[in-house]
Amino acid sequence: MDLQTLKQRFGIIGNSPALNYALSVADRVAPTNLSVLITGESGVGKEIFSQILHQLSPRKHNPFIAVNCGAIPEGTIDSELFGHEKGSFTGAGEKRKGYFESVDGGTIFLDEIGEMPLGTQARLLRVLESGEFIKVGSSVSQKTDVRVVAATNVNLMESVQKGKFREDLYYRLSTVPIEIPSLRDRGEDIYLLFRKFCIDFSEKNKTPIIQLDDDARRLLLKYNWPGNVRQLKNIAEQISVLAKDKIVYADEFIRFIPDFTVSKTPAVMDFSDGNTNNGGGNNFSERELLYKMLFDIKKDVNDLKQYMLSMGTTAPLVSAYNSGDIGQGQAYYPSSPVIRHDEHSSTVQSGSQPIILAEKSHYQSAETIDESLSIEDKEKELILRALKKHKGKRKNAANDLGISERTLYRKIKEYGIDD
Ligand SMILES: Nc1ncnc2c1ncn2[C@@H]1O[C@H](COP(=O)(O)OP(=O)(O)OP(=O)(O)O)[C@@H](O)[C@H]1O
Ligand SMILES: [Mg+2]
Repeated sequence: MDLQTLKQRFGIIGNSPALNYALSVADRVAPTNLSVLITGESGVGKEIFSQILHQLSPRKHNPFIAVNCGAIPEGTIDSELFGHEKGSFTGAGEKRKGYFESVDGGTIFLDEIGEMPLGTQARLLRVLESGEFIKVGSSVSQKTDVRVVAATNVNLMESVQKGKFREDLYYRLSTVPIEIPSLRDRGEDIYLLFRKFCIDFSEKNKTPIIQLDDDARRLLLKYNWPGNVRQLKNIAEQISVLAKDKIVYADEFIRFIPDFTVSKTPAVMDFSDGNTNNGGGNNFSERELLYKMLFDIKKDVNDLKQYMLSMGTTAPLVSAYNSGDIGQGQAYYPSSPVIRHDEHSSTVQSGSQPIILAEKSHYQSAETIDESLSIEDKEKELILRALKKHKGKRKNAANDLGISERTLYRKIKEYGIDD
């Protein structure tokens, strides 16, 4: 199938060479029975690729099932995938078919394969090599014909090195790897996608299509899009709902972008001589960045002042700030442990460096404040904050917390968090 037709059929927008290459590999491998490992950051479109692989295969009339390995509790994943015999474990009432049995002839998409427990990995390897599996609690092996497509947004080779992922399974799965590029590496696609999402939104909601002016458009291209296409879609929709006017200018646009970290201009700011330094030509965008940075710094300082005042302490930080001791060239740590920020107060970065404002030692006195230091309380609080920040989306909250989705589920239960 030619690429244009493929894109139209699956609603894929973009024309960057890396995306086109990934699509052409998918197109070629789809009709075979080979296992495919789809890699790429969160939100790049891995799920659509799993659909392409199934729909363009002779299995297309047979079942397709997507299983999120990170969301199934460790104790039940074997039974979900391979089934169980009656009474094989506590709670295993009736005999049950697993997906590898019920999807016979079709495709299983194993999403977040890096989260699969080692025991399940061994069973998967066996089914990939011999087409055979054994139900939990049984000793009889059964045959099945299932094509496996797996996806991950973690570096599986690193997981192999840490002993969390079987090396033999890694090689078995990645017979044909498909790497989906991150959005920041697909510069030419960013605007195309943004337009598409704005047009879709306006059609769905019968609203005018919003448009970015040139400076806002430049900012759109400079942002590093850590959440990739998913994040771009969310922001396009937010702007479509909330923009004051049909034309969106840079100063309004930038308010929709969290943690404005740019990837393409590593030396955006040079505070040492007060100059912007980016080879010229983009001064307005840099001015916008500067506004944003200053705005965030001001907010952090205000938060800090408020905090000190609310504690009723003599506040060395505030006086240092007022007397001008804190200035350029000193380190500023907005996320000091006892200082609270809402999720929008961002760590503004210049390249990869934190913005430099005040010595950490200025904060030391604040750290003696009597607060609960129970690890459990802190953990619960962090989980609640992460859930709130991601509007209850556990997957994103888990990512942010640096734990697996399964661990998050367990902790939510453990702490009785009702989200
Ligand atoms: N090239 C594209 N054109 C149009 N929409 C896209 C494109 N790539 C991704 N999307 C959309 O972006 C969103 C995120 O994609 P998807 O769910 O496939 O991401 P993912 O790679 O599976 O992320 P995760 O690792 O977080 O599961 C979906 O709404 C998808 O339709
Ligand atoms: Mg996905």
